[in-house]
Amino acid sequence: MIDLDELSRSKHVTKVFDSTPLAQSKIDVLLEFLLSVPTSLNIQASHYFIAASAPSRSRIAKAMNGGFEANQVKIDTASHVIVFCTRMDVPREHLTKVFEREHADHKFPDDEQEQRWREIVLAGLDMHIHDKKDLSHWLEKQTYMALGMMMMAAAAVEVDATPMEGFCAKALDAELGLRERGLTSTVLLALGKQDPADWILKVLKSRLPRSQTFTFLDDGDVRSSPG
Ligand SMILES: Cc1cc2nc3c(=O)[nH]c(=O)nc-3n(C[C@H](O)[C@H](O)[C@H](O)COP(=O)(O)O)c2cc1C
Repeated sequence: MIDLDELSRSKHVTKVFDSTPLAQSKIDVLLEFLLSVPTSLNIQASHYFIAASAPSRSRIAKAMNGGFEANQVKIDTASHVIVFCTRMDVPREHLTKVFEREHADHKFPDDEQEQRWREIVLAGLDMHIHDKKDLSHWLEKQTYMALGMMMMAAAAVEVDATPMEGFCAKALDAELGLRERGLTSTVLLALGKQDPADWILKVLKSRLPRSQTFTFLDDGDVRSSPG
């Protein structure tokens, strides 16, 4: 069980790992967890590239040229780096795979409910494409939720982690041939064991106070609460 009090006090994010490889059993359990995360409409438009060896990680590190060099050390010293990718659209073939899988997994008690669900999915997709016009944004939100859940999962198995937005997506997409596969890189997660000499451990944590972050709707007139 995760100790949330302890986790609240922790730094959450590692800046330097100690280069030791994680036990395969921990990676397996984390990847199994990643497979299980939910997505809106069960759309499953995220895809993950996992780099463990130094040559694979250095392919990712190349995307830190041009302004993101400070992140290279995390890639170099981590045990594993996961590239969280998102589909750039949802083609019919992807939907067919999801629907066939849901059918094979017996997700629905009967054909009628299965059919109704498929109509809901198609209508939802249509809404994001044509009405909200936010398909990429919506799909990337699903990928970010997987990122957050993986950070918690890593903490649960005592693996240190660093989420990274600081990389050149264009360079990484080209290096891994992502766009040809209908994908783009969204965010990275480095996993490993934090170096006890990591400088971040000496830096105090800073967060806005509760009064500026929470508004309790039961505590009176919210219109007069601080914004
Ligand atoms: C989505 C996300 C992306 C981040 N990207 C980076 C990054 O590219 N490089 C980095 O060093 N830290 C990155 N961070 C760490 C944040 O900068 C850090 O958590 C924040 O400054 C608070 O510091 P603390 O975690 O030490 O309290 C990222 C954090 C999140 C949640």
